[in-house]
This record gives sequence, C-alpha cells and structure tokens, in this order.
Amino acid sequence: MKTKELISTAKAMVASDKGLLAMDESNPTCNKRFAKLGIPQNEEAHRAYREMIVTTPGLEESISGAILFDETIRQHLKDGKSFIKALTDKGIIPGIKVDAGAKDLAGHPGEKITEGLDGLRDRLKEYYQMGARFAKWRAVIGIGKDIPSQSCIEANAQALARYAALCQEAGLVPVVEPEVLMEGKHTLEQCFEVTEEVLRTVFNQLYAQRVTLEGMILKPNMVLPGLTCPKQESVDDVADITIECLLRSVPAAVPGIAFLSGGQSGEIASARLNAMNVRFKSQLPWALAFSFARAIQQPALEIWQGKETNVKKAQQALYHRAKCNQAARRGEYDTAME
Ligand code: 13P
Repeated sequence: MKTKELISTAKAMVASDKGLLAMDESNPTCNKRFAKLGIPQNEEAHRAYREMIVTTPGLEESISGAILFDETIRQHLKDGKSFIKALTDKGIIPGIKVDAGAKDLAGHPGEKITEGLDGLRDRLKEYYQMGARFAKWRAVIGIGKDIPSQSCIEANAQALARYAALCQEAGLVPVVEPEVLMEGKHTLEQCFEVTEEVLRTVFNQLYAQRVTLEGMILKPNMVLPGLTCPKQESVDDVADITIECLLRSVPAAVPGIAFLSGGQSGEIASARLNAMNVRFKSQLPWALAFSFARAIQQPALEIWQGKETNVKKAQQALYHRAKCNQAARRGEYDTAME
C-alpha cells in the first residue's frame, strides 16, 4: 500500500510555504519561447537552460518540487549528475509531466482533449524507478461563443481522473491541472461559472475513479477576467472570487492547491496569491501555493539568453521570483520587494 507515502509526499509538496516550479515545457513550447529571444532551439540548449535553473543557489529555500519534461529527466548536468539527483540532493522533490498534450476534440471545433493515457501505467512505473515522486497532467478549457461544451469538460475530467488513479497506483502524487484559459473577452463572472463547473466535474470523476484526495494536489487557474475583457478587476476582487469558487468546489481533504500562472506576469501572480493568503489563509482547509512556470522563469529566461556568462544573473532573478512567491504564501509579499 502506497497510500501513506502518497499522503506524505503531497504534504511535503506544500510544506514550509514552498511551492512547485514547473519547468516541464514540451519541446515545441520551449522552442517557441527560445526562438522569441534568439536562443538556439535544440536538445543541448534545453539542457543548459534547465541546468541553470536547478543549480540556482538557494532554490530549495522556496521550491519544494520541480516538474520535469521527459527529455530533461533523462539528461545530466555538465558534471555528469542526473537532473533527478541534482534535485534530490537539494531536497527538491522531482516530478514529471506525463500528458501527451492537448489535441483537437473531434466534433467540437475550438475545443481540446488532453491525450496520453495509452501506455501510461508502464511510463509511470519507469518514472517512479527513476526517482520521480509526483506527476502532472494538464487539461485546457477555453471560454468563447458556445464553449466550453459539457462534453469537453466531461472528457477532460475523466482523463484527469484516470491519470490520477494510475499515478496513485504507481506511488506518484498526481498534480491535477484543469486550466480554464485566460484568452478571450469573457468576464470575471463567466470565468467563475466555468471554473466552478469544471472543478465540480473533475472532483466527481476523481471520486468515481477512487482517487485518494489526501494524496493529490490540485493545480487550477485563478478566477480571472479574459485578457481582452474591458473590465479588469482589482487584486482583492480576484482573490475573493477565486476563494469563493474553490470553497464551493474543492473538498477539504485535498492537502494543497497550487495555482498555475497561465500567462500572468510574475508580479501580478505573486500579488494575487498574496491577497488570497492575507484575506483567507486562516480559514482555509487546504494550503494555497503555487506551481508556476512563466511567472517564475520568464525574467530569468530573458536574462539568460542562452549565454553561459549570464547564468549568475539569471539565477538571481529566478531565486528572487521564487522567494516572492514564498512570501505570497505567507501573505508577506509587497511590491516593494520588486
Ligand atoms: P504557467 O505557470 O506558465 O501557466 O505554467 C504552468 C504549467 O505547468 C502549465 O501546465
């Protein structure tokens, strides 16, 4: 029985006001971000970038776990150490992205279904043997004219729940990520309605697939107005409505909620997480943490530019953003920190 191990890993992932660092961009996503900055797009550049991240001095002060991509988990630092060993030596729990990406959902123009269940049991076994202790699967739900459909929400929720059950069977804590996208002109209220429906459906499916809630982490979006919605609510309003939505839909048995950043800037993501913890931390059943990719990495990537000489400065920027988010977990973040 791996239940005890799952529960203690899940707790450790959100302990000490730390959070997760998502560094699991697929090759196409990573290459797109590199291309924008004129960085070469090849396996060695991916490796060098990830080495810069995991060798950041003091990263473990605010990062409890790091999510790797399949290519990275098989790579090594310049000194020959595997990425898994580099992380575990620092006390950072290694995780792995296991979905195969969001593909067009047949019969549903504009909607996506995340693939990757075929052969997943064997892949999870291998990742566990390599040293990974948690996994991630991302579903994407867009808001637009006539979308999302109920069938898109249900198909994605079922895939998330089947993935989560397989993870727990293998001893890996599932990070369950149903992302309601920011793209569009929808209002804050529309995002609230869709997010609530998505989360309720996801938890219904998690129950149906007999997932142990104490041994998982939820990785949701914050409830936000669409990027092109003319009305953009204040940080406090976003905090209030996000918590209202989560209280309605996330069981108290879940140990932690670790938000994705979804394209928010680093500063605004920290400010919103901070506001939620300032206003509600003492009343919530779950830890409110972070599992950011862009909102932690972006400034460091822009400084790094693919050059060895920029590594130190890039690491300082990464360390800083990770620390800001730890402060946000404590409700102690201030824009003066920037
Ligand atoms: P962002 O924080 O950049 O949204 O990435 C989080 C993530 O892991 C997406 O799956």
